[in-house]
Amino acid sequence: MNEIVRIDNLSFRYMQGLDNALEKVNLGFEKGAVIGITGPAGAGKSTLLSCINGVIPHYMNGDLQGHVLVNNQEVANLTFGQLAPIVGTVFQDVDFQTVSITVEEEVAFGPENIAIDPAEIENRIIHALESTHITTLRRRAISTLSGGQKQRVAIAAVLSTLPDLLLLDEPTSELDPIGTQEVFEAIFELNKTLGMTVIIVSQKVENLIDCDRIIVLSDGKVAFDGQPRKVFMRSQRLAEVGIAIPEVTAFIIALHKKLGQPISTERLPLSIGEAQTTLENILRQYGVLS
Ligand SMILES: Nc1ncnc2c1ncn2[C@@H]1O[C@H](COP(=O)(O)OP(=O)(O)OP(=O)(O)O)[C@@H](O)[C@H]1O
Ligand SMILES: [Mg+2]
Repeated sequence: MNEIVRIDNLSFRYMQGLDNALEKVNLGFEKGAVIGITGPAGAGKSTLLSCINGVIPHYMNGDLQGHVLVNNQEVANLTFGQLAPIVGTVFQDVDFQTVSITVEEEVAFGPENIAIDPAEIENRIIHALESTHITTLRRRAISTLSGGQKQRVAIAAVLSTLPDLLLLDEPTSELDPIGTQEVFEAIFELNKTLGMTVIIVSQKVENLIDCDRIIVLSDGKVAFDGQPRKVFMRSQRLAEVGIAIPEVTAFIIALHKKLGQPISTERLPLSIGEAQTTLENILRQYGVLS
């Protein structure tokens, strides 16, 4: 398997932490995949990303055990400068990552830092602003923007570096439903066209239905790992760790139960469109629809 990230027996406890934030985590992420990570508050999602992008151990101290490899190299042995062109992160706290006054400077900062040619930087700025739908904000001061607009800038600022591996920590928490959809479309497009590997952390599982794989963290451990339909089939066990499956999926599972017909994993609907098809099939079965 062609892995971009390998995590072996990773445990981490923050300096001020009482318990391990991550506990014996073993994971491998295939190049070109889109991976969703979910789990309740405090499950260790952001900590896991920090171990992949090098914030741990380079910027944050604690007790780290095990190994994290990116492109077959130990993160602890790479400098931040070496990691920068490979791993790009949109942090959960957008203000934490903003370094410039204007949108344009912020989106140019990453490519300038990794010594990209100026003409190419201009291209990248244009594309990053277009794909996050903020071309009109180019000359604005970041301090004058709304939370959602700042979040789009943070995403554009990472997209402009075209990393091999894109880490997004709750990237649409400040965005409205349309904004969320636009951002996810842009991210999936980059995955398809450039083969960029993407890891998206979101507490909203609806945001992760198109991922190749979903990982559920609970108390610093991997509780579930698999294709979205496979993971969502275990809705009762997911509820025990505090994760609700998409409402449409839950509705169809409940309906099948009521009808006494088990539903197969492959037929489990994840979106409203898929649920509509399932419902139409049931209505046909009962002679309500022809
Ligand atoms: N800087 C820190 N110092 C001490 N403990 C921390 C620190 N940051 C996080 N923790 C603890 O580590 C655990 C995992 O935190 P983490 O932020 O990774 O969770 P999360 O899944 O990202 O949660 P959320 O959904 O709220 O963002 C929690 O128990 C948290 O309290
Ligand atoms: Mg977090």
